[in-house]
Amino acid sequence: MPVITTIDDLKKIHRRRAPKMFFDYCESGSWTEQTFRDNTTDFAEIRLRQRVAVDMSNRTTRSTMAGQDVAMPVALAPVGFTGMQCADGEIKAARAAEKFGVPYTLSTMSICSIEDVREHTKEPFWFQLYVIKDEEFVDNIIARAKNAGVSALVITLDLQVLGQRHKDIKNQLTAPPRMTPRVIADLAIRWRWGLGMLGTRRHTFRNIAGHAKGVSDLRSLSSWTAEQFEPKLDWSMIAKLKEKWGGKVILKGVLDAEDARKAVEIGCDAIVVSNHGGRQLDGALSSIRILPSIVDAVGGQTEIWLDSGIRTGQDVLKALALGAHGTMIGRAYIYGLGAMGEAGVTKSLEVIHKELDTTMALCGERDIHNLSRDNLLLPQDFTTRWS
Ligand code: GLV
Repeated sequence: MPVITTIDDLKKIHRRRAPKMFFDYCESGSWTEQTFRDNTTDFAEIRLRQRVAVDMSNRTTRSTMAGQDVAMPVALAPVGFTGMQCADGEIKAARAAEKFGVPYTLSTMSICSIEDVREHTKEPFWFQLYVIKDEEFVDNIIARAKNAGVSALVITLDLQVLGQRHKDIKNQLTAPPRMTPRVIADLAIRWRWGLGMLGTRRHTFRNIAGHAKGVSDLRSLSSWTAEQFEPKLDWSMIAKLKEKWGGKVILKGVLDAEDARKAVEIGCDAIVVSNHGGRQLDGALSSIRILPSIVDAVGGQTEIWLDSGIRTGQDVLKALALGAHGTMIGRAYIYGLGAMGEAGVTKSLEVIHKELDTTMALCGERDIHNLSRDNLLLPQDFTTRWS
C-alpha cells in the first residue's frame, strides 16, 4: 500500500478499486466539464498571506455548522450512488464522519436507506431531499427522516433536470450495474469490490425502492430524474416544504446573489453556494469565484457554506477567509471511500484537517473564526457581480 498524504493519492487508489462506471460517475462534470475544472483551478489562483512571529499555540479548527458543533467546518455532502463505490458506502461514510466529529448528509439517491444509516450510527445525520412530483413520496420520506432523528433537511435546488454527463451515458450507469460483457470484464479485476458487494444486500436505491410509484427503471438515475423530478419547484413550494419539515433547513445549489436573497426571505439555517460539483450547468462560474458576491449580498443574515472544488485544507481555509461559515466536500471523501472504505473516509478527513491546521498556523492564525480576506491575495478579476 503506498503512503497516503493527499486526497489525490486516495483518488488514484479509488480509480483502481472501484468499477469504471462508478469512478467515472464520481469524476465527471456535465458537457465540456469546464465548470468542473474551474472549481479546482480557481482555488489555485488564490494566494495566501504568510505571517511570522505570531503565537500559533493552542490553535483550533472547531466551529459550528447550522448550530451543530464540528471538529472543523467541513460537512460530508450528499452524493448519489455512494454505496456503489464500495459496499454499504453510506453507512461507512456516516460512521467515519461521526467518529471525526463532522456532519454527514445522506442523499435521496443513496444505496443505503435512511433506516440503514440510522441503524448503524449513534449521532443524528442530515438528509438531502430531491423534490419530486409524487407528493405522497415526499411526505413519506420526510416522515421517515423525522422518525430516524435526522437533524437537518438539505434541499437541493439545482437538479430539477439532469445536466448531461457523457461518461454516465456511455457507461450505461445503473445501480446495480447490468452485467454486459464490458462490465463483467471490468469487474473481473476489481475483486475487492465484488467481494464487498457479495457481503451486502444493499444494491439499489433503497430510499426509493418499495416507496415510489411509476418509475420505469429504478436502477437508473437519469430515468428517475426525467420521470419524477418536479419541474415546477419554486420558492413557494420550498417554503411549504420547510413548513412540513419543521426543523433545520439548508438550501443547496445557490449560485447567484439574487437567489440567495430569496433563500434568506423564506428563511433557512444555511445556504450552500454550489454548482453541484460542476455536474449541472456547465459554463456556470466556480463556486469559490461566486462566493464573495453572495457573502456581500446576504452575509450575516444566514450561514453561507461553500461546496464544489474543495480538495485540500487550504481550499477550506480560502473559502472561510472569503466569508463562508462552513464547507461541504463530495469527491474528496468519495475518493477515500472508493479506495479504502470507512478507513479511507477517515483518511480524507485527516488529510484535510492537517492541511487546514498547518495552513492556519503559517498564515499566523490561531482561531478559524479570525480568517478574513486579509489572509488572501485574489486575482484582480476574481469576483463578479451579476446582481
Ligand atoms: C446527483 O445525484 C448527481 O449525480 O449529481
